[in-house]
Amino acid sequence: MSEPEAPEKSGLSRRNFLKALGTTAVASAAAQATTVAQELQKHNDEKVHGPGAVAISLKINGATRKFEVEPRVTLMDLLRYRTDLTGTKEVCDRATCGACTVWLDGTPVYSCMTLAIEAQGREITTVEGLSKDGEMTAVQKAFVNCDGLQCGFCTPGFVMSVTALLKQKAKPTEEDVRKACAGNLCRCGTYPRVFAAALEAAGVKIASRSEVIRLTEADVRLA
Ligand code: FES
Ligand code: FES
Repeated sequence: MSEPEAPEKSGLSRRNFLKALGTTAVASAAAQATTVAQELQKHNDEKVHGPGAVAISLKINGATRKFEVEPRVTLMDLLRYRTDLTGTKEVCDRATCGACTVWLDGTPVYSCMTLAIEAQGREITTVEGLSKDGEMTAVQKAFVNCDGLQCGFCTPGFVMSVTALLKQKAKPTEEDVRKACAGNLCRCGTYPRVFAAALEAAGVKIASRSEVIRLTEADVRLA
């Protein structure tokens, strides 16, 4: 590789070379300062909400509802304490168990980690919003058929995660089901039957349900 030409050789004096370098550095710093100033301005222009209650409007299970809530209130607390939608369960309140799973625009989220005010303009779906006319969905029926619950406290969260998966992938593999449920914990250890329920709801043929259950039970023991 050839050596770069010395500034003098290339017709650029050392003094001019350093001046040009300094000008570029100053221009770059100025551009950065402008960006920071713009960001600060944007931040200052944003309306500050709270700490008192503010009026918000949420679309929950297709219905628009209005509330007065402090901005610190989570979507989980609003659903459980300000509406009659208690299917959304509170267990850890810190994004580890998935019992509070709801959908925002069809995507499962932890409602304990979502502020109610942030959910404005989004389609919120809770477990109560899945069934139509009081008829259980295929996923809910499969949970019953497969005995996919013990205490049932984690079940709404699993139902939301499994249903979201089947909307995305009608014929998932057992691996897909496990991944979709990775954010949901069941303290009773009902995982094998939950996975079997998800596959049954999808109409996925498995060689033998007991085989899947046996294998997954072994996995849970190893975990
Ligand atoms: S209650 Fe939200 S993740 Fe556990
Ligand atoms: S069935 Fe009890 S926590 Fe899952």
